[in-house]
Amino acid sequence: MEAGPAAAAEAALILRAGGLVAFPTETVYGLGADATSDAAVASIYVAKDRPSFNPLISHVTDLGAAEALAHLDSDAWLLADAFWPGPLTIVAPVRRECPVSLLARAGLDSVALRVPDHPVAQAILRAAGTPIAAPSANRSGRVSPTNAEHVAGDLDGRVDLIVDGGPCVVGVESTIVSCLSDGLRLLRPGGVSREAIERVLGRPVAASAIQEGAAPLAPGMLPSHYAPRSAVRLDAMDVADDEAALDFGGQLSGGVARLDLSAARNLSEAAANLFAYLRRLDAAGARAIAVAPIPETGLGAAINDRLARAAAPRA
Ligand code: TXA
Ligand code: MG
Repeated sequence: MEAGPAAAAEAALILRAGGLVAFPTETVYGLGADATSDAAVASIYVAKDRPSFNPLISHVTDLGAAEALAHLDSDAWLLADAFWPGPLTIVAPVRRECPVSLLARAGLDSVALRVPDHPVAQAILRAAGTPIAAPSANRSGRVSPTNAEHVAGDLDGRVDLIVDGGPCVVGVESTIVSCLSDGLRLLRPGGVSREAIERVLGRPVAASAIQEGAAPLAPGMLPSHYAPRSAVRLDAMDVADDEAALDFGGQLSGGVARLDLSAARNLSEAAANLFAYLRRLDAAGARAIAVAPIPETGLGAAINDRLARAAAPRA
């Protein structure tokens, strides 16, 4: 659908109903869903055939909207002031009341925020009235799309609407900077250069030792890795008295607490519940969380990938 007021209104309706909308930003086309809905975010992974749950970028209209979601430190303020709207993403600690879904954050207590500099993206954000989680609008393993034809080639039939706003001017993804308590780090190079960031901050900036795509040094050192405090035991066929159970399709019973990711064995529903349920069971204070076997098909691969990381020995 050609970009314009009608497309923005249509996109907003679809997003608020939990659907998927591909839309242009200045960097690449994004595959958007309501960032506050675990179910809507789960459908992003289904459409992309993504084998793992990376945390996603939440797009917002402006600095004020970002501030409502996360604690921005002084570096983050300087960078936002200099580069927003634009191809810079800031990772910051979430506010307690932050409504961005745990699945969009891959269970983390931080959130990646970006204010896109594109009139179509801005119009959709304003009309939707909610943060929009959006990875690049391509199938997993393919290159990021910079025009609507690329998106249609990859995702036709898998999205509810593709808004055509012409070619993207930047053409590479946003630069990602993490502004967490351990100091500022460059997580991904992109549309804003490191030199430009260093000029604004007035000091050199360290690239993270653990860049996106690089092999992790150890499982616990992955920055985008959520691990519960309790131990995690996979492929459990039974539950000990001092364990909590993360079930799938009613396979387990017993233990101090039990939550079923999807009684109906629906993997999208299971993905949507995954991080929230892990947190709830972790809070039960059990010795370990026993996890029922989950099929490796469809989103099951991504669910099992995250569970394997959660179960890995701590660094
Ligand atoms: O240009 C872009 O940034 C495009 C357009 C659509 O805006 N979006 C994009 O999103 O590239 P995505 O979801 O593919 O980028 C997500 C990356 C993750 O792979 C991860 O590296 C980083 O952002 N990220 C997100 N949340 C994070 C967090 N809480 N901590 C650390 N890294 C995070
Ligand atoms: Mg991508």
